[in-house]
Amino acid sequence: MNNHPIGIFDSGIGGLSILGQISYLLPNESLIYVGDTAFLPYGTKSRDLIQDRAHKICSYLLSKHCKAIVVACNTATSVAIQKLRANFSVPIIGIEPAVKPATQQTRSRVIGILATEGTLEGEKFATLKQRFGNDITILHQPCTGLVEMIEAGDLNDKKLHELLKIFVLPLLECGADTLVLGCTHFPLIKPLIAYYAGPKVTILDPSIPVANELKRQLELKSLLLKEKSGMYTFFQTGTNEQFEKFISKELGLEPTLYSLNI
Ligand code: DGL
Repeated sequence: MNNHPIGIFDSGIGGLSILGQISYLLPNESLIYVGDTAFLPYGTKSRDLIQDRAHKICSYLLSKHCKAIVVACNTATSVAIQKLRANFSVPIIGIEPAVKPATQQTRSRVIGILATEGTLEGEKFATLKQRFGNDITILHQPCTGLVEMIEAGDLNDKKLHELLKIFVLPLLECGADTLVLGCTHFPLIKPLIAYYAGPKVTILDPSIPVANELKRQLELKSLLLKEKSGMYTFFQTGTNEQFEKFISKELGLEPTLYSLNI
């Protein structure tokens, strides 16, 4: 089973920020990536729909013999990971906003979480807030519309910059010195977020801990691949024309991108 691929999915290109870390940490492994662009954004969709999509995508990845699955999406992790773990027996690794590291790093004792509505309204986030928000102010900012702008790929778009000002500046005004990127799309525009946040603000991107956790779980089950395979296959369910461009830009690869109808 060691030479079987690892499956990774997100609503769109956001999970590529996680895939990049996984390919860096585990260069031998083969990866299959699914971007569910036909149903993007997940952040404003119902729990039932996201759970259904996550189930269909995981079933597809298992039909491709994936030995582990990474839910490279905060929203889908928050809403669907428990059900996925109950239904499928391979290791399933999720992602959640880096609230704990942020509370450990802040000096102003105010942190800001940028995420989708789905993530911020979920139980997982409520639990994180309760656990770590005792003597730290945890501000949260639903970033409606930002994921679609990132998928569209025009980083000079005025509307994108307007949204960033609307989302980031109030957090700074309330004293946040640490911002958590609680959506996997946001690391793809980290330089822009950093520009509006300014040099004194720390920005936390959780893709490294996710890749580490995947490695840990594969090691534990003796599933790591010792020799190089490194085959990457990409699918999208919709028709985002920027998808291929993002893969080459983020990963420096000439991607094979297939269309997936599930
Ligand atoms: N990238 C995803 C996340 O981390 C999903 C964003 C969306 O589709 O709304 O939440």
